Amino acid sequence: MEGHRVLIAPSVLSADFLRLGEELDSIATADAIHYDVMDGHFVPNVSFGLDIAKQVKGASELPLDVHLMVDNPDVAAPTYAQAGADMVTVHVEAARHIHRIVGQVHAAGAKAGAVINPGTPVSALEAILPELDMVLVMSVDPGFGGQSFIPTTLAKLRELKALAARLGCSPRVEVDGGISASNAREVVAAGADVLVAGSSVFKAADRAKAIADIRAQAALADAREA
Ligand code: DX5
Ligand code: ZN
Repeated sequence: MEGHRVLIAPSVLSADFLRLGEELDSIATADAIHYDVMDGHFVPNVSFGLDIAKQVKGASELPLDVHLMVDNPDVAAPTYAQAGADMVTVHVEAARHIHRIVGQVHAAGAKAGAVINPGTPVSALEAILPELDMVLVMSVDPGFGGQSFIPTTLAKLRELKALAARLGCSPRVEVDGGISASNAREVVAAGADVLVAGSSVFKAADRAKAIADIRAQAALADAREA
């Protein structure tokens, strides 16, 4: 997940799990695999865990971006980093000791990120922001694919950019929930540089085209930085 262009990270939460290998092949033109871990406590849904993460990592050349929607990320985050995740993100609403988590994820050789829910202010990131490789701004309440983008996310993205500038750091900014070609341009214009897309990619018959369409819209906004 290097470079400055906008990255597209399809969420396998919306894939056909009975054909997971073929589903991963179908998104080979993406930049990362977004892997949503849900424990049925932090969010009202259960998805998949560590063993399937290892299989996904082994079946694709793409970086594995693990989004932990779990009550106890202090235990889970280092475990996923040690299992081969390239990026591990933890919710600030759930983390007990976030500096320790970030240190342990880095020690395992992975990048570390923090996530804020739509109802959590950007200021909740201030104490940890300089240590982070990425911030994930949720644009839906987490738990399910296929929900609608919450428009107030755009103002939070601008606020996050301003906070990072004030603190002298420049983490990647990922946005997750309700992203498609129809809103990618405005989300990137507001400050996103990694776009998670679940249903808009996996519900499309032609995944490469769906990824290319989102990328093209993102590039229209990203041209400002060229
Ligand atoms: C939501 C997950 C998302 C989800 C996105 O809790 O964190 O990654 O899979 O799905 P779409 O793109 O369909 O909103
Ligand atoms: Zn996610």
